[in-house]
Amino acid sequence: MKTMSTPWLMRRMCAATVLVLGVWDVSTAYAQSSVKVDERAFVRAAKSSYLAASPQEWQRLFDPTLAICNATGDAPNERQALQIMKREQASIHYPSNGQLMGDWRRGKEWAEQTHGGRIGIAGFADADDPRKPNGANCYACHAIDPAFPQAGNMGPPLTHYGRLRGVTPEVVRATYDKIFNAKATNPCSIMPRYGGKDRLLTPEQVADIVAFLLDPQSPVNKE
Ligand code: HEC
Repeated sequence: MKTMSTPWLMRRMCAATVLVLGVWDVSTAYAQSSVKVDERAFVRAAKSSYLAASPQEWQRLFDPTLAICNATGDAPNERQALQIMKREQASIHYPSNGQLMGDWRRGKEWAEQTHGGRIGIAGFADADDPRKPNGANCYACHAIDPAFPQAGNMGPPLTHYGRLRGVTPEVVRATYDKIFNAKATNPCSIMPRYGGKDRLLTPEQVADIVAFLLDPQSPVNKE
């Protein structure tokens, strides 16, 4: 193993300290400040980062569901919650072959891949190639396959998902619906709505991911 030289280590430690202090500084300054961010200034700043996005892409952020979640700080009242769930439920549709469980190997790929939906300048920066299928980047928020090197924890771990729940038609359907549109059952869920018009995944891709979570052969459900 390569030994680390002391100056190298010190540089690394200094950089880490600066980073931690920087984040701490900004967050305490923010918490202590009485400055309210003006809504219009905020929208202007956000829009300026959508450099090459189409007008539809920008408009996607202002759909009626997000409008209620934003206005209520993700705490809709009962009437608003029911209204949202009804609308989001109506967006869910299924693969034309009727199979809600597809191929777990493909599902594994879609869950891992991060391609698609990025804000970038076509041909420059980090823009996505529109000819490639989109990925879902589930690991940004969930631990799933224990062999995958890293995972976020904003969402609950999904390791052993099928083993813990069984593979009944109800579980298959609920899992499909959750991935297709998380807001259909949890009105202001922070989990992205993956399926539907102008969204990231096709119904077949959602079915593949269902198989990845539920198939007994999938690494998700191995020891
Ligand atoms: C931005 C973070 C985020 C991403 C990305 C995300 N999720 Fe989630 N997910 C959550 C959160 C938070 C919850 C819990 C709240 C809820 O149920 O809405 C959740 C809940 C779930 C549940 C229900 C778990 C249970 O025990 O009932 C499933 C299944 C799920 N996610 C699957 C996925 C899959 C598959 C992907 C990728 C296609 C994905 N999620 C991407 C945040 C995320």
